[in-house]
Amino acid sequence: MTASPVLSRDADGVRVITVDRPDKLNALDRQTLEALDAAFAAAADADQVRAVVLTGAGPKAFVAGADIAQMNALTPIEGREFSLLGQRLMRRIERLPKPVVAMVNGYALGGGLELAMACHLRIAADSARLGQPEVNLGLIPGFGGTQRLLRLAGRAAALELCLLGAPIDAARALQLGVVNRVVPAAELEAETMKLAAQLAASAPLALRGILDAVVLGGECPLEEGLQFETAQFGLLFASEDMREGTAAFLEKRRPQFRNR
Ligand code: COA
Repeated sequence: MTASPVLSRDADGVRVITVDRPDKLNALDRQTLEALDAAFAAAADADQVRAVVLTGAGPKAFVAGADIAQMNALTPIEGREFSLLGQRLMRRIERLPKPVVAMVNGYALGGGLELAMACHLRIAADSARLGQPEVNLGLIPGFGGTQRLLRLAGRAAALELCLLGAPIDAARALQLGVVNRVVPAAELEAETMKLAAQLAASAPLALRGILDAVVLGGECPLEEGLQFETAQFGLLFASEDMREGTAAFLEKRRPQFRNR
């Protein structure tokens, strides 16, 4: 049996999912996409998991893209299937009812940037390089990159990255809004785990409401998005955590959220 290309470990309500093919810079082949899909499905189902961190093994790469060696041999039908497999994974991550933080520890290229963009927050090492270089292979992004980059950073950035195919550094990615934060490489893990711990201690039902309202609501016309927000807002008045959060404020103490 070959070892899984994806590792999962838990620390205080945070599940850390690691793409583990460092000798191939964590490139996404079919097996890795399927293992990631299963890892995220398991994280969604596990009650003790309140936040997820996604990263890549080794010192060089988050994920250096879809596996070019595997893609080289695909037929058009298989290429379509490969795209659907990647898109299904990205959508699962984006629609996860728990916050997912991409810890971008190095190259996030092609499918790697698409993977990072499907996460809810991105924190990058100052040494990271990000881009959509598919055009250099005679291809286009196929795991949602054209659409998510457009929505995340706007048309100018999406066209610049996809048409030119040149990677950008972390500082430029921050400037374009492609990542949320940039930290020195040596501090990346500690800073990411601090952020994830904050999310894991937060009110899970409220986090879920925010994710639903922003991710799903953001795909609707404004009027529908606003109605969606109102429905989520109202629903939270049925939660014990909302009573606890407001009571804790009034009693000047820290709230204890219980996912109820
Ligand atoms: N698919 C398959 N294998 C990949 C890969 C990918 N996307 N990216 C890197 N690898 C493999 C290399 O083939 C090499 O394998 P080998 O040792 O068996 O030859 C190994 O990972 C190390 O990569 P290497 O290119 O030697 O490292 P580097 O430090 O010189 O360069 C990059 C790093 C990221 C600049 C370079 O690997 C690269 O350009 N990768 C492809 C990026 C890309 O186009 N991604 C989009 C794909 S759609």
